[in-house]
Amino acid sequence: MTVTRSIVRGVGGYLPQRILTNKELAQRVDTTDEWIVQRTGISQRHIAADGEFTSDLAVRAAEKALARAGVSIAGIDLIIVATTTPDMTFPATATLVQKKLGMHHGFALDLQAVCSGFVYAMATADSYLKNGMARRALVIGAETFSRILDWEDRTTCVLFGDGAGAIVLEAVDLADGAADQGVLGSRLRSDGRQWDKLYVDGGVSSTGTIGHVRMQGREVFKHAVGMISDVIEDVLSETGYTSAQLNWFVPHQANLRIINGVGKKMGIPASKVVVTVDRHANTSAASVPLALETAVLDGRIKSGDLVMLEAMGGGFTWGATLIRWTD
Ligand code: ACO
Repeated sequence: MTVTRSIVRGVGGYLPQRILTNKELAQRVDTTDEWIVQRTGISQRHIAADGEFTSDLAVRAAEKALARAGVSIAGIDLIIVATTTPDMTFPATATLVQKKLGMHHGFALDLQAVCSGFVYAMATADSYLKNGMARRALVIGAETFSRILDWEDRTTCVLFGDGAGAIVLEAVDLADGAADQGVLGSRLRSDGRQWDKLYVDGGVSSTGTIGHVRMQGREVFKHAVGMISDVIEDVLSETGYTSAQLNWFVPHQANLRIINGVGKKMGIPASKVVVTVDRHANTSAASVPLALETAVLDGRIKSGDLVMLEAMGGGFTWGATLIRWTD
């Protein structure tokens, strides 16, 4: 008997060149570097250049992931782009990424789960790989969130930034006794009753505009730690592991206080938590793969490590994925 597992073969990230610091932001809206750092842990964010689109960021991250995986685009048969800021209403940004990467086979689709997008996309790609619809996937989280921010609203514009992250995920058939590798389990949740806690006040069908991010920050904060901890516990119980066995925790990079709250509730020491929110703010669907790339490149995440990814965002949506890292 063999078991099909999805193994991560390479990780890549891309942040646009332009850095917007808290101090610069404080010249535009009534805020301070101290307030932002204390409440969120964010020091700066990256902003895409004029004419630089979500698909461009996605392609830069994907190229790095492919190079590190040692895989050419010919070896990919599925692209999923998790984004809430597509280049156009249609076609899917994933098909634009497919074209820009020179891939003329397979299939590509977008996935919309806001900040949870990457975790949702990982679970979706894992399902396609396991049921044989694809063998090697590019899973990308890419956002130009700066384009849907109200730059006069200090309660939201200080929190977000632009960026992209990508992984190459490959289906591998393993002997039953050697299946403790790759994606071990995922759990996804959503609750549409909470849509108005975090949303965009425009859209194709409702207003014909793209709208701006609106958020009840305190309400989001109140729900976040509990929801994220619950879904992590679900993945742990499904896979038979405990939080004490985790080598690394790679959370959605929204806010340091939420990250610390989840770590504390799950009993995960700060030394095992990957934090990058300080340098790129909340990049929505891009944040988890950006943090993952950092910890892989600096040598923290190594082959054999047990790694928990999680995210939560508008909808509400939330989810977690457990991976046994393999080089
Ligand atoms: N600079 C200075 N003051 C500000 C700012 C700012 N940028 N933003 C709000 N304030 C003020 C408010 O107006 C308020 O003033 P008041 O007391 O005179 O009315 C005061 O600060 C406190 O406001 P609160 O909203 O209560 O501040 P809080 O401590 O809750 O911090 C924050 C706000 C950081 C948004 C927090 O609620 C939070 O982190 N929420 C989670 C939101 C989040 O991370 N969203 C990301 C998307 S969801 C996700 O990815 C999980």
